[in-house]
Amino acid sequence: MPLIEEIDYGTPPSQAEKTVSLTIDGFAVTVPEGTSIMRAAMAAGIQVPKLCAYDMVEAFGSCRLCLVEIEGRAGTPASCTTPVADGMAVTTQTERLKKLRRNVMELYISDHPLDCLTCAANGDCELQDMAGAVGLREVRYGYQGANHLGQAKDQTNPYFTFDPSKCILCSRCVRACEEVQGTFALTIDGRGFASKVAAGMDEDFLSSECVSCGACVQACPTATLMDNSVIEIGQPEHSVVTTCAYCGVGCSFKAEMRGNEVVRMEPYKDGKANHGHSCVKGRFAWGYTNHRDRILTPMIRDKMTDPWREVSWDEAIGRVASEFRRIQTQTGKDAIGVITSSRCTNEETFLVQKLARAVFGNNNTDTCARVCHSPTGYGLSKTFGTSAGTQDFDSIEQADVVMVIGANPTDAHPVFASRMKKRLRQGAKLIVVDPRRTDLVRSPHIEAAYHLPLRPGTNVAMLNALAHVVVTEDLIDREFVRSRCEADAFADWAAFIARPENSPEAVAAFTGVPAETIRGAARLYATGGKAAIYYGLGVTEHSQGTTAVMAMANLAMATGNIGRAGAGVNPLRGQNNVQGSCDMGSFPHELAGYRHISDAATRRLFEKDWGVTLDPEPGLRIPNMLDAALDGSFKGLYVQGEDIVQSDPDSKHVIAGLEAMECVVVQDLFLNETASYAHVFLPGSTFLEKDGTFTNAERRIGRVRKVMPPRAGLADWEITLAIAKAMGVPMHYTHPAEIMDEIARLTPTFAGVSYEKLERLGSVQWPCNDKAPEGTPVMHVGSFVRGKGNFLITEYVPTDEKTGPRFPLLLTTGRILSQYNVGAQTRRTENVVWHEEDLLEIHPHDAEQRGIRDGDWVRLESRSGATSLHARITDRVAPGVVYTTFHHPDTQANVVTTDYSDWATNCPEYKVTAVQVAPSNGPTEWQNEYRDHARQSRRIARPAPLPAAE
Ligand code: SF4
Ligand code: SF4
Ligand code: SF4
Ligand code: FES
Repeated sequence: MPLIEEIDYGTPPSQAEKTVSLTIDGFAVTVPEGTSIMRAAMAAGIQVPKLCAYDMVEAFGSCRLCLVEIEGRAGTPASCTTPVADGMAVTTQTERLKKLRRNVMELYISDHPLDCLTCAANGDCELQDMAGAVGLREVRYGYQGANHLGQAKDQTNPYFTFDPSKCILCSRCVRACEEVQGTFALTIDGRGFASKVAAGMDEDFLSSECVSCGACVQACPTATLMDNSVIEIGQPEHSVVTTCAYCGVGCSFKAEMRGNEVVRMEPYKDGKANHGHSCVKGRFAWGYTNHRDRILTPMIRDKMTDPWREVSWDEAIGRVASEFRRIQTQTGKDAIGVITSSRCTNEETFLVQKLARAVFGNNNTDTCARVCHSPTGYGLSKTFGTSAGTQDFDSIEQADVVMVIGANPTDAHPVFASRMKKRLRQGAKLIVVDPRRTDLVRSPHIEAAYHLPLRPGTNVAMLNALAHVVVTEDLIDREFVRSRCEADAFADWAAFIARPENSPEAVAAFTGVPAETIRGAARLYATGGKAAIYYGLGVTEHSQGTTAVMAMANLAMATGNIGRAGAGVNPLRGQNNVQGSCDMGSFPHELAGYRHISDAATRRLFEKDWGVTLDPEPGLRIPNMLDAALDGSFKGLYVQGEDIVQSDPDSKHVIAGLEAMECVVVQDLFLNETASYAHVFLPGSTFLEKDGTFTNAERRIGRVRKVMPPRAGLADWEITLAIAKAMGVPMHYTHPAEIMDEIARLTPTFAGVSYEKLERLGSVQWPCNDKAPEGTPVMHVGSFVRGKGNFLITEYVPTDEKTGPRFPLLLTTGRILSQYNVGAQTRRTENVVWHEEDLLEIHPHDAEQRGIRDGDWVRLESRSGATSLHARITDRVAPGVVYTTFHHPDTQANVVTTDYSDWATNCPEYKVTAVQVAPSNGPTEWQNEYRDHARQSRRIARPAPLPAAE
């Protein structure tokens, strides 16, 4: 397989519909109006020499290498900054142009190290290419005069090196940081000969506000900004397009390889979710694949307290099968279950739930989406008719108003955040509903029109108040409601929402947001043009998570903001395949495609295909499995790619449940926290080691492609097959493509999906079937999936988790950019330089009252438990609110969270916990005990080496 070289057209495409025709070097070309001559030439296959132009950023016109001649015009304009015009006749190669270009190159090369043969960029350097392209053979100026060759490298960033001696000041990096990433970390400092690229306030890269997205490295045409991995390993030889395995944005990357070694993950410009951009995780944090902590041999043990014993795959799989069958014989068929993973592929997830249904004979399957976006599925299906976000990411480019609720995209969905920020810089208005002053509220060239810093737990009251303004000030899109929605449901809802208790004035006191601010935000949302809602776990992880999702859907329908580009209701999904794991039938009550297990016709379809009889009763959810374990009726669990001890609420309860089981099987890359309570460990494979698909937050199904063999010998899907076979119900697939064919056969929304189509189109968004053979970017166009939109009553019911004298503060949790979820992968990469530990953010006022200084150890205690961590004093959180992340197992933040959960889906209420914070001396007793237990439970008994021969 060759190295994939993507064409650089030099300037971004024009979006104009009108076209113009011209000739370039005698060839007729027709392109959209506004296209640059350079891009038009490239479209015709004519390459104009260039250095400062790059098609991810606007043209700058500084290098003067791309000069052309235009008939009837004096001079030699730069082709990158000159737009095409009808009838224009352009010449790109003349003796005059050649001479001018050679002169330009000569100046560049006279201040550039002549170390091409030993330079890491040799063979991948545009300066080198251009010197060849313009025929530069000698440099007349010599290298004796003043130059920049002795400048020191900046190697502070763990992933890339900045070597200013090779910089040609083309400013591509600066523009990429501004236009693509939106961080504005770089500038060209100084003037004339003293000009240089500077990070932040002329700091090193690590100390600056650089977020290590890699856009500048990708943009740099020389070896000035270089991936350290390329410097260390050398230039890649071949590449494979695949999908990032971190967050729900689902960025496409070229995995650039030397043999079986990854050299670089280069964002793929053809990737429809990311259009060539990336964040620090997908771009750089793939080193965990080769981390020494990876377990590569299956292991078993009789008791959780025993050390692990390494065994063959056959023995490990045999143990799983015999134990599961023994438990079913002794305790009943419902005594075992599975947890599928939002980190694994669609095909793997489908197989695991099939294992439960077709092999175990029950519906005891659940997924970690239970703890994040299950309210999204339920809420949107009841109002719109389908359990997914309504738009594609491109839709943001047409939004006039963006409302971000309970989400922090700059940290959790960074590539989408960059696109959102770009739209905001173009003039779209922003409303942020979040207890914390997230980066979006104010960042370079962006300021939210409204920030509603509500008290955690009051989302529903706030959304009702916004809707109250829409209804009582008659800002309703009456035509939309009349033609697209259930009339009776709307009338009932409008009467409910107009009640005085839903007014901004009534909710101001307990949400903490002034009524006028709420009114202003509501008016802007309803009247500011196309308005799009983006939301995250700050909406769903509440006891009223589902109600809040329904309230957002009501708001969008009432204002007609649904069913067209630029509008919609969009969950920002956390994990890479959380959408897919829900789509694939991971929940105990649903088969793939969100069809209830009690529906006889759907069951018959699967029964015929699988040759089994399905149980019509929904199975157990994760919390119910744990409860059943404690009452002795549930004894065996297969957990694929999840770490429920760390990610699920009330860790002590999770641990007690696992300890009560007789056979816990964990399949993962590392001995995670859940593995401390397991009897069998099956080594999993990374996304680089298998084929499959992930479905991102915009319902986009993208290919995951194997770039190296599974390090432990089996891909995750092959392990599930082996368990099924050992349990006496073999499944026959030779490649994940065949699993996708089965999914398509059994799932109407996936009916048109196949690997062949994914090869052809790159990716598709479901529904993909006869009605929409190439997928569906925007849903509910013309009519809702359920027919008419359904307004639902969303009464605000405060959470039972209350503050009081003992626990006066509210804890809310979230993520940061450099770490991912429970940190199993990112903690095993250089990303730890940005976030070594979880910190507790506390407002200066609350800190002062408690005698807490920045950096102090503090004890964070709730009704459920206590943990200790270091304090960070900041006014990003409001007084009365504290905030932490949950990336590090040492912190065990979920010891503190309660077992309150969403009324409809059991999604835990992570975002509201009443706590007290006090100075402390270090980790709690529980943390110390936990750490000791984890250390003990990770022991692996290996045979002593044979004595050396005499
Ligand atoms: S890595 Fe990204 S954020 Fe950092 S300077 Fe480069 S473009 Fe800017
Ligand atoms: S660092 Fe690279 S991209 Fe930036 S100005 Fe220098 S040569 Fe151009
Ligand atoms: S935004 Fe998400 S999908 Fe994209 S590179 Fe970052 S972690 Fe990966
Ligand atoms: S590429 Fe046009 S001026 Fe540099």
